[in-house]
Amino acid sequence: MKELVERLVVNRRLDNESLRALLTECTTDANVLQLLRDCAVRTAREQFGLGIYIRGLIEVSSYCRCDCLYCGLRRSNRSAERYRLTHDEIMACCREGYKLGFRTFVLQGGEDGTHTDRWLEELVRDIRQSYPDVAITLSLGERSEESYRALYEAGANRYLLRHEAANADLYDALHPTAKGLKNRLECLEALKRIGYQVGMGMMIGVKGQTIDDIVEDLQLIGRMQPQMVGIGPFMPHSSTPLGGEPAGDLRLTLAAVAITRLMLPSALIPSTTALATLSPIGRLEGILSGANVVMPNLSPSDIRAKYAIYENKASWGKEAAEGLAALDEELKTIGYHIDYSRGDFNNK
Ligand code: 5AD
Repeated sequence: MKELVERLVVNRRLDNESLRALLTECTTDANVLQLLRDCAVRTAREQFGLGIYIRGLIEVSSYCRCDCLYCGLRRSNRSAERYRLTHDEIMACCREGYKLGFRTFVLQGGEDGTHTDRWLEELVRDIRQSYPDVAITLSLGERSEESYRALYEAGANRYLLRHEAANADLYDALHPTAKGLKNRLECLEALKRIGYQVGMGMMIGVKGQTIDDIVEDLQLIGRMQPQMVGIGPFMPHSSTPLGGEPAGDLRLTLAAVAITRLMLPSALIPSTTALATLSPIGRLEGILSGANVVMPNLSPSDIRAKYAIYENKASWGKEAAEGLAALDEELKTIGYHIDYSRGDFNNK
């Protein structure tokens, strides 16, 4: 196993067999997982030092046309409370975030049919004009290439669109109303072509996912070379068809994060909210597996509970924007600190 990890460090890739062996071993042998994570942390430190970038997450709408089996915002979930922030409310979040020191805003939401190109363009243009020095990240699901282009021209810089599953059968099983993996990958290609910094990623431990599927996910990420990669454990939401399933495995999630860091040394990799929700030390564990970004919540506090992609989602305390000082304290316990710079991808 040591030899496999060394090969991954040197070559930034492994064949399917080796990746499968490494992931499997990480769930049973704590020493192998530790070795892998140590290598990932070393690589992240060479790239980013001890600074952790922050991104202010604004959850713009909980309406969604999709019916993804795992997600609490799925349209079949009649018990979900829906809301949609207004233009002015989103601008107020940005104002607050900018004051706190955020230099990236992430506008994330369900696939809300009322979010027309025009409405979103005006929003992005307004943020761009008000804060010329921030990065604007969008995470609004699948849209047309024209739409992606118009939003890029309005001032957006980055787009997060997890591929969710590189295995087309698993993808279809999890996303009954979606347009399929092919369309998803075409969206990612379009975003790349337009010039966005692009984010991909997947959950670990969702029903039906095997180790081989995670291997496929990692290989796809290796081929696509995205600038950002979000990986978190699956978390069950009781009002979804997967509500009775167990949460994803922490060790396997940390192994996937660490392998991703070694495959893509300069990528921006968040220690996800799902990790922080799974374990009280999840956020630190993510950083100690090679992650270099955290995404505190900037949404108005009264709506946060309604943006429930899964239950008990961490959003208070250190996950909340008000908790930046607390976050910095937490990071200090492992020798890190918040890096307030915009933190663009740069391939050294
Ligand atoms: N558990 C963990 N992650 C989830 N996501 C959606 N639902 C869940 C869940 N129940 C992830 C998806 C999506 C991202 C915004 O959150 O991967 O892309």
